[in-house]
Amino acid sequence: MKIQKNFSLKNHNTFGVDVSAKYFAEVTSLEELTQALNDSVTPEIPLLILGGGSNLLFTKDFEGLVLHLNVKGISEEIISENEVLVTAAAGENWQEFVQFCLQKNYGGLENLSLIPGNVGTSPMQNIGAYGTEIKDTFVQCRVLNLETLEVEIFDAEKCNFGYRESVFKHEGKGKYIILDVTFKLSTKDHSIKTEYGAIKSELENLGIENPTIQQVSKAVINIRQSKLPDPKAMGNAGSFFKNPSIPKNQFVEVQEKYPEIPNYPNGELVKIPAGWLIEQCGWKGKQMGNVASHKLQALVLVNATGQASGQEIYDFSTLIIKSVKEKFGIDLEREVNII
Ligand code: FAD
Ligand code: EPU
Repeated sequence: MKIQKNFSLKNHNTFGVDVSAKYFAEVTSLEELTQALNDSVTPEIPLLILGGGSNLLFTKDFEGLVLHLNVKGISEEIISENEVLVTAAAGENWQEFVQFCLQKNYGGLENLSLIPGNVGTSPMQNIGAYGTEIKDTFVQCRVLNLETLEVEIFDAEKCNFGYRESVFKHEGKGKYIILDVTFKLSTKDHSIKTEYGAIKSELENLGIENPTIQQVSKAVINIRQSKLPDPKAMGNAGSFFKNPSIPKNQFVEVQEKYPEIPNYPNGELVKIPAGWLIEQCGWKGKQMGNVASHKLQALVLVNATGQASGQEIYDFSTLIIKSVKEKFGIDLEREVNII
């Protein structure tokens, strides 16, 4: 394992922000990982675990060690007539893993097609899209405890998953490295989920009536490609903010003023699409300096010129938070990890 100094991270974050890491190493096995931690990490040196770099924003150079987890491997265990456990190492690319499962006709991840990043990061924010979250098929992940350097197992309960949330963003923040993740998938009689968003109409466009999991995946990919900018063409990290949930009584007040507000009631709370709030504040497609809110999806902030600094993107996001608060009285929370 080679430790590189003053290493550029421009190709390791999908915003394409030009920052560097004081030290950078790629690890391809658990042994290399523990060796790197034993040899190089002291309490004074900050540590950052890096997957695909698709959900973080570097606002400055990283004055510590970046460990790029590139551990690979997928294993399978048939556990019943129609269920299989599939385990993928942290460094497996998420979309390649979804594709692997679809080729084997394993169902459960098709609605999560084309999400960037790595398998090892998927529990961090319980990645979700089109009516599915990983918590729906998650069985466990193996983690390395950074204090003890022991391997531990976290089941779904211990992960404490929520909407774009898990223990790893809270009490467990910076304490564990996720090594691999196990999912329970179906091998037949798949449960097909087409209720969410535009999946049904996209399947109709494709002339499909009783879709297979592979066809659901295709529909999801088509929808995503029609509105989400490809980070290779324009730097971004997907949704920059979470969709806020507000108490019912607050919602009723906002709705009186803005009757057309889209909303998704959920128990005592009501979820509002942040993209709508941002668009209503006039930000959609608006560019300031090198940063913009995307013209097709206001919730996605983009490095419009390729020259944006992380601080510039962060400052732009602060202006959006202020606008939404002033107009609607609603607090937006950043979804992207700010480093
Ligand atoms: P990174 O950006 O590398 O890391 C994110 C955070 O996790 C960092 O704090 C990092 O230190 C930490 N981390 C990384 N790996 C580990 C590990 N093994 N152990 C411990 N900590 C770790 N997300 C969704 O949920 N749904 C979507 O539909 C979606 N669409 C997107 C569309 C686009 C175009 C983009 C660019 C992003 C989108 N995202 C979406 C966000 C992103 O893809 C996910 O959050 C993804 O899981 C991030 O994975 P990553 O490997 O790139 O993480
Ligand atoms: N909307 C607008 N204007 C916009 C964008 C959205 O008015 O510019 C409104 C519309 O009413 C639209 C609604 O917002 O119907 C929802 O938009 P969309 O279907 O595009 O989904 P989203 O809520 O903006 C969420 C996730 C995405 C995920 C999609 C599909 C969050 C923060 N984002 O976006 O995840 O792919 O649903 O399930 O929950 C990500 O996390 O990075 C991400 C891309």
